[in-house]
Amino acid sequence: MYLLAVESSCDETSAAVICAGEREDGALQLKILSNRIASQIPLHTVYGGVVPEIASRAHAEAVSSLTYEALEEAGVSLSEIGAVGVTAYPGLIGALLVGVNFAKSLAYANNIPLVPVCHIFGHIAANYFTHEELRPPFLALVASGGHTSIVHVRSYTDFETIGRTRDDAIGEAFDKVARVMGMPYPGGAEMDRIAYEGNAAALKLPSAAINDDTLDFSFSGLKTAVINHLNTLSQKGLSYERADIAASFTAAVTSSVVKKLDAALKETGETKLVIAGGVAANSHIRRALEEYCSRRRHLRLYLPDRALCGDNAAMIAAQAYFEYKAGVRGDTTLNARAVL
Ligand code: KG4
Ligand code: ZN
Repeated sequence: MYLLAVESSCDETSAAVICAGEREDGALQLKILSNRIASQIPLHTVYGGVVPEIASRAHAEAVSSLTYEALEEAGVSLSEIGAVGVTAYPGLIGALLVGVNFAKSLAYANNIPLVPVCHIFGHIAANYFTHEELRPPFLALVASGGHTSIVHVRSYTDFETIGRTRDDAIGEAFDKVARVMGMPYPGGAEMDRIAYEGNAAALKLPSAAINDDTLDFSFSGLKTAVINHLNTLSQKGLSYERADIAASFTAAVTSSVVKKLDAALKETGETKLVIAGGVAANSHIRRALEEYCSRRRHLRLYLPDRALCGDNAAMIAAQAYFEYKAGVRGDTTLNARAVL
C-alpha cells in the first residue's frame, strides 16, 4: 500500500510517500518514493535556536506545496494513498498543530484513513528502511535535539521507555556548547567534525550517566561544566582550542551513552541495539557503539542511514504503516500534544 505522511514537530517541514507491504515469505518491504524536507534552519540560526512562532508560520507556508510535491515526485495520486500518517506528538505544539490540521483535512476531504504517529517512535522506524531484516524486539537509543531516551521496542507498536534524560537532550547539549564557542545553530554536526582535531583528554568532565540504578541521564550538568570552564577562561582572558572542547565533550557524552546502554542491554536481555534521531548521525557515538558491540559477539548493532537520522516524514510514514495495521486511527477530533 502507499502511505503519505507529514512531519512538522520542530524546525523541519516534511512530506513523504512510501510503499509498504510484506512479501509472500512475510518479510517486510518498505520503499521511500519521495521524502521532501524543507529545513527552517536558516530562519532560526540568527536567534541561536528554534523560535516556536517562526517555526509554526514556516510550517504553515510550506506544508501544502511540499505535500503535493511529494506526491508528484512519487508518481502517486491521492486516490491511491491508503493512509495518511502525521506526527501528532511530542514536539512544539504550534508546529505540530500545523501538520495535524493539514493531515486531518486532507484525509477527511479525500476519505483516507488518518493515522497519528509518535515522533520518537518514527525516529526508531527509520531503521527499517536501512535494515530490512530488523525485527522487534530490540533496544533503541533515541537521541535528538528534543529527546533522549532508551526504549524497549517489544513489537512494531509496543514501546516502553526505560530510560530518559532528566533535563537537556543530547542534541540540545551539543548545540548549546557549540553556541557558547561561537558556532552557528545547530552546532552538533560541526562539533562532530572538529572533535577529530582535538584532544579528548584536554578537559576532565562529569559523566551524564546518572550514578544510580536507573537508566536515566542528565546532560545539563555536563553541559554546564563545559560552559563554566569556557566562561572562566574568557574572564581570565585565556584562549582555548574549540577542537579540544568538542573532543572532550564528545568523549564524555559517548562514554555516558555506552554505560547506560550496557546496563539497559543487561537489564532487558536484548541482543539487538538500534540507534535513532539526529544525534545518531554522530560518527564518534556510532564508532564507540560499533566497538562495544564487536567485543560482544551476541550483540548486533543497527545504525540508521545518516540521511534518515534527522527529522523526515518517511520515518513517520513507516511507523504509520505499523500503526495502521494495528488498527490505530485518528479522526476529525485528533489533537496534537507537546509531550509523549
Ligand atoms: O532528530 P532531529 O533532526 O530533530 C529533533 O527531533 O530534535 O535532531 C536534531 C539534533 C540537533 O541538536 C543537531 O545538532 C543534532 O541532532 N545533530 C548532531 C549531529 N547531527 C545532528 N549531533 C551530534 N553529532 C552530529 N553529527
Ligand atoms: Zn526528531
